Amino acid sequence: MNLSLKEKNAVVCGSTQGIGHAIAIELALLGANCTLMARNEETLKKVIRDLNTSLGQKHSFLIADFSKPDEVRAIIEEHVKHHGVHILINNTGGPPAGMIMDAKEEEFLKAFNQHLICNHILTTAVVPSMKKEGYGRIINIISTTVKIPLKNLGVSNTIRGAVASWAKTMANELGQFNITVNNLLPGNISTQRLVSLIDTNAKKANTGIDKIEQSMINEIPMKRFGKPAEIAAVAAFLASPAGSYVSGVSIPVDGGKTGSI
Ligand SMILES: NC(=O)c1ccc[n+]([C@@H]2O[C@H](COP(=O)([O-])OP(=O)(O)OC[C@H]3O[C@@H](n4cnc5c(N)ncnc54)[C@H](OP(=O)(O)O)[C@@H]3O)[C@@H](O)[C@H]2O)c1
Repeated sequence: MNLSLKEKNAVVCGSTQGIGHAIAIELALLGANCTLMARNEETLKKVIRDLNTSLGQKHSFLIADFSKPDEVRAIIEEHVKHHGVHILINNTGGPPAGMIMDAKEEEFLKAFNQHLICNHILTTAVVPSMKKEGYGRIINIISTTVKIPLKNLGVSNTIRGAVASWAKTMANELGQFNITVNNLLPGNISTQRLVSLIDTNAKKANTGIDKIEQSMINEIPMKRFGKPAEIAAVAAFLASPAGSYVSGVSIPVDGGKTGSI
């Protein structure tokens, strides 16, 4: 199986911590040149130093805030003027928890911009280069809420569905150019995002963090939270030549938690 990403250029968004960070580590290990994207310059610089360079990979970073789509557009458009892109990982911070009835209209708009609009800006900017290279892999980090909405994630559930539908439509249009578009749906993965969701749920239920954690673990057939590297492994496969005929799908990586076939 050909998993080599040597001489492939990847743009990995939301890569200073958690799932995006793990994906950058994995893609670099397989030989990709990674361009990291996030807001925190200090952390970006630190993550660059963690990436493998044993095959001569060159890594760089772009500072961008996905709550400002025009800023993201300017940055990626400048990047593609000078660099080919073969792999795009669309990923950013998740919307805050909360019941949908309590959600303000601005919260939907903010999440829509940060997720769907930024994915669209990034994708449309890199696709000409993918077409030219004859190789494209677009991987969107979404959530299992695409399949089954989760409690207390009203805005997130809503936006994730839109992103999945956008991605399927993109896959239909881009397949003919050897560009695949797929979604990864993380379950409960041990990252800062999970820590803050558990904390919110514990406060809401007026109970301890341990109790919330245990009740979540009880619902997972594999009886543990996932590791960011376990999402990254699937992303790396989809990004590689071996993943060439997988397109337009949403893959849960959730230890079996999602209750749909
Ligand atoms: N962890 C889970 O259990 C889980 C489950 C389902 C879905 N997900 C989803 O998967 C995605 C990644 O999750 P994660 O757990 O890895 O999250 P995380 O630990 O919170 O990391 C989020 C990453 O996105 C970047 N980011 C956040 N806001 C940004 C902004 N406005 N502009 C640019 N970059 C931004 C952060 O870097 P900077 O702060 O440096 O910008 C960081 O690198 C999220 O959409 C999350 O909701 C996670």
